[in-house]
Amino acid sequence: MRTRSPICSATFTLTILILLVLGAVNTRTASATDSDIDQRINSLIEQMTLEEKLGQLTQQWGGESQDINPGAQKRQLDDLLGVARVGAVGSFLGAYGAEYTNKLQRAAVEESRLKIPLIIGNDVIHGYRTVFPVPLAESATWDPELVELSARVAATEARAGGTHWTFAPMIDVSRDARWGRIVETAGEDPYFSSVMAAARVRGFQGKSLKDKDAVAACAKHFVAYGAGEGGRDYNTVDISDQTLRDIHMPPFAAAVDAGVASIMSAFNEINGTPATANRYTIDKILRGELGFNGFIVSDWTSITEMINHGLARDAADAAQQAIRAGVDMDMCSFSYRDHLDDMVKNGSLSKEIVDRAVRRVLRAKFDLGLFDNPYADPALETKVTLADEHRTAARRVAAKSMVLLKNENGLLPLADGVKTIALVGPMVDNNHDPLGTWSLNGKDEDVVTVLAGMKKRAQAAGMKVLHAKGCDFAKEDAEALKQAVQIAKQADVVLAFVGEYEMSTGEAHSKADLDLPAPQLALIKAVMAANKKTAVVLMTGRPLTIPFLVENAPAILAAWHPGVECGNAVADVLFGDENPAARLPVTWPRHVGQIPIYYNHKKTGRPPNDTRYTSKYIDQPWTPQFPFGYGLSYTTFEYSDLEVEPTSATVADTLTVTVKVTNTGSRDGDEVIQLYVRDLIGSVTRPVKELKAFERVSIGAGATKTVTFEVPCNQLGFHNAESKYVVEPGAFKVFVGPNAAEGLEADFEIGSAE
Ligand code: GLC
Repeated sequence: MRTRSPICSATFTLTILILLVLGAVNTRTASATDSDIDQRINSLIEQMTLEEKLGQLTQQWGGESQDINPGAQKRQLDDLLGVARVGAVGSFLGAYGAEYTNKLQRAAVEESRLKIPLIIGNDVIHGYRTVFPVPLAESATWDPELVELSARVAATEARAGGTHWTFAPMIDVSRDARWGRIVETAGEDPYFSSVMAAARVRGFQGKSLKDKDAVAACAKHFVAYGAGEGGRDYNTVDISDQTLRDIHMPPFAAAVDAGVASIMSAFNEINGTPATANRYTIDKILRGELGFNGFIVSDWTSITEMINHGLARDAADAAQQAIRAGVDMDMCSFSYRDHLDDMVKNGSLSKEIVDRAVRRVLRAKFDLGLFDNPYADPALETKVTLADEHRTAARRVAAKSMVLLKNENGLLPLADGVKTIALVGPMVDNNHDPLGTWSLNGKDEDVVTVLAGMKKRAQAAGMKVLHAKGCDFAKEDAEALKQAVQIAKQADVVLAFVGEYEMSTGEAHSKADLDLPAPQLALIKAVMAANKKTAVVLMTGRPLTIPFLVENAPAILAAWHPGVECGNAVADVLFGDENPAARLPVTWPRHVGQIPIYYNHKKTGRPPNDTRYTSKYIDQPWTPQFPFGYGLSYTTFEYSDLEVEPTSATVADTLTVTVKVTNTGSRDGDEVIQLYVRDLIGSVTRPVKELKAFERVSIGAGATKTVTFEVPCNQLGFHNAESKYVVEPGAFKVFVGPNAAEGLEADFEIGSAE
């Protein structure tokens, strides 16, 4: 063996030493960021008084006074600057704009004792100033990239405007269109909602929270808020552990896996314990099993609402239960700031629990880079707010979110032979309600109305446009109705733009009756009597029950509340510039009495059929008006050659499922191909179908595409009677098709683990 010369050996040793030192430095530098931040946090906590700690755990309203009296404006701002200056608050919500938020930030960063920056949070739900379609509509695109794009645009505008943190995505699963907040969800399916949750977290948080176009996301409302009895907001949630874990938890698991920075606890109780003090859901599941290590904020005054719940004697008791359960920041109840100091001082609450919460909040502020760059840039805000490319994105998402529910004899898209169209309904010349609920800084003057968008497009087609409101959302108007009938008689095609006004959806707006309001139905019946070629454009925040329209209108388009680009997007679809491909993310009921109605239901011992003693209604069909995943196109598609490999799999295997889809029509189009699975026998009963994969695919007229899905068998499990996640051996079916009610099927089995 050749020995090294002494010089060579010394060089070699020196090289190794240099590499080791560099490596250490790199390692130290790389992890220095983490340990460096931890050291800075520890140092701050050591310096903080108890009052300053509780200030960091307090969020309060920080908006500008709406009182036009300058004195009131000044007083309000002075109060806010005062609490920031003494460190009695760690976060504001309701504060907007670079210039205004910088004033608040300066008081904290330059005038407070420890100069800890504020974190400004806001409800950037579907846009900051460029308002996109409501979240249920965005989800109807079945395109996670588009949903991510919408969140990206919102984050860019929000951060430039001084917002660091958004109270979104709202990832509650809802099977109940009576619930006003279904508009904010991604619908009824846990897998679908998980995909959309992760897309929105990615969109909001971007590549790094320190970036000037990123905001910390906040997955909400933890947990099972969408399962409130009777579809009533804030109502009791009493569900099995299996339903909690298999239906309501998956989107939160997906958000945690996507790196969500924060989570908001819900108003509701779950099985007797309010979410805001629920150690089972927070400690055991969220932090223990899902590994969430960000911070938790209460929803509004949900801490002190535990007095109403009957869980807490008073605000002090509520505060103690919440912070012990792991709710780190108190939104607007002030119970932490007002009551926890005495408890720490008298020893009934350990300092460590307070420090744990402070650490999580400070960590988020470091991750956002707020200690180094606390201020927003007004010039950047001007540059990005309502930028053309943002409007373009909003128009694209809106056009791709509209679901074609019916289209007899090709009434749509408006064909060349059409010379005159009549637009009727309360949504025609309306620049407010298309923004939808939670439109934050959206402004009516930003909205392209239906009338403006349709007129512009019709002009290009040499088409004449007549219009008349015909009625209000909930009020008849005989004269207006007469005008609408008059123009219907003169038109080749009538388009009725009806639905819900913005404030009739969203938080605290549950409905016991989902019928289209009578004045609007009367308007449609009157114009249809004058002109059979009447298409209905439904602009809502949820499914409404529309049996008459389904029976009698030749065409129906669910356009939802489409945001600022409303008129342009509606015109894109109605004139065929956009071939609709959106799909329902919720089951559409025929009648409110059917609710809850959803596709992934159990089979029961007496599945509904035409014989007497089975599970159905005697006065309504038991089937939905339209199934989950349903939507039409201006072309048609056919499925063939479904194959699944292997047909005999183990839990460790991944199924490869292929199918051919042919565009059998004369127009290019997208098809949303959906893959469902059924576990035929389980140790607990299993749903008749469960969505496990989907893809929106563009297919040219006459072309055929082979689509392949990879489905890991370990995703085909459920929580058993012992609340343990299992994939049980046995026979399965796979279904691939255009919605939850149609498609090809094939069999496969999963063998026992050994
Ligand atoms: C509301 C909502 C929640 C929102 C919060 C702040 O009550 O439940 O979704 O983020 O308060 O506005």
